[in-house]
Amino acid sequence: MIDVMKMFKARLWMKRNVPFLYSWHAYVGYELDLFKAFERGVTAADVADAYQVDEPLLNQWVNVGVSIGHLKPLSRNRYKTGPMWKLPRPKDESSSGVILKEMMELHIPSLLTYPEMMRKKTRNHFDEEKHADTVAQTSRLLEVIALPKIAKLLKDHDTQDVLDIGCGEGGYIKRLAERFPNSSFKGIEVSDSVAKTAQNLTASLDNVSIEQGDFWEYEPTQKYDLILMNNIIHYIPPVKRQELFDRLTEWLNDDGVLSVITPISGGQESPPFVAAFNSFFHSFENLHPLPQKEQLEEWGTEAKLTSFGIQTVIKEGSWYAVQYKKTSSQQD
Ligand SMILES: C[S@@+](CC[C@H](N)C(=O)[O-])C[C@H]1O[C@@H](n2cnc3c(N)ncnc32)[C@H](O)[C@@H]1O
Repeated sequence: MIDVMKMFKARLWMKRNVPFLYSWHAYVGYELDLFKAFERGVTAADVADAYQVDEPLLNQWVNVGVSIGHLKPLSRNRYKTGPMWKLPRPKDESSSGVILKEMMELHIPSLLTYPEMMRKKTRNHFDEEKHADTVAQTSRLLEVIALPKIAKLLKDHDTQDVLDIGCGEGGYIKRLAERFPNSSFKGIEVSDSVAKTAQNLTASLDNVSIEQGDFWEYEPTQKYDLILMNNIIHYIPPVKRQELFDRLTEWLNDDGVLSVITPISGGQESPPFVAAFNSFFHSFENLHPLPQKEQLEEWGTEAKLTSFGIQTVIKEGSWYAVQYKKTSSQQD
C-alpha cells in the first residue's frame, strides 16, 4: 500500500512539473533563436548545421517541442514552428522571451539554492553587471500597462520637469518625452551598459538627459514636478527607504508628485507569484524584500506627502502604482 502511495505521489509531482517543460522549451528556443530557425519547415540536421549547435541535443529539444505543440512535424523529418502567438519572438524584436531568460537564468537557479542557504545560513550575491540588462528589459514589459497612469499624471498636473530614478533603459522617459515635447526629462541609472542603452534609445529627443550614476549620490540643481520610482524599492535596504522618501520629497516642487510602481508583498492570501518573487529577493544579500502596502503609506506620511491614488498594475504579480503629492502647506 505504501509503495502504491509513493508511486501515486511521484506521478503527481511529475505531472505537476509538466508546465516547466513549456517554459524550458520556450527559453531554449528564445536563447538560440530556434523558433525562427524552424519557421519554414526544416530538418533538425539543417538547423544544427546552420546554427552550429549540437545535433543530438537539438533533436531532443525538437522532440519535446513536438510533444507540447511548440513544433509541428512535417514529412521528410522536417519540423515547423507552431503558433507564434504563443511563443517568444526573436531577441531583436520586442520579445516576451526576456521574462523566460530572467526566470530561467536568475529566479529558478536562486530558488534552487534555498536548501544550501538555509543549511549554511548564507545568501547569494546578485551580480548586477551580469543581470542588469535582462532585469531592465523585463521591467519594460510593464510599460504598456503603467504608462497611461503616468501620462495622466503629466496631463492632470502642471508638469515641466520630470526625474526618473533608476530609469533602466529609459522606456518610460522615451515614450513620455515623445508625447510631452514641452516637458524635460532626466533619468539616473547606475548600470553602465543599461545607461548606455537608455542614452541610445533617447538620443533623438532634445528634452531628455540620461545620467549614469547612483541616485544616492545625486545632488539636484533644481526641483522636479514629477519623480518616478519604478521597480526600485527592492534595491533599497528597508532601513534606508524612509530616508529615500524624505530625500525625494525635498527634490519635489510644491504640488509636485511622486509616482511609485512596485510589487507589494502581502499576506498568505496574496497570489503565489508574489510569494515566489519575494522568496527570490530574499535569496540575495544585496536585494531586499518587497514593501507592504501599509509601509508605502507610512513612508509617504512620514515624508509629509499625501497619497492620492493607488491602482493595480498587474493583479497576479501584485504590482501597484501609488501616487503622492507634496502640498504647499506640508513642506518642511
Ligand atoms: C528593475 S529595473 C527598473 C527600471 C525602470 N525603472 C523600469 O521600471 O522599467 C531597476 C533599475 O534600477 C537601477 N538601480 C538600482 N539601484 C540604483 C541606484 N542606486 N541608482 C541608480 N540606479 C539604480 C538598476 O540598475 C536597474 O536598471
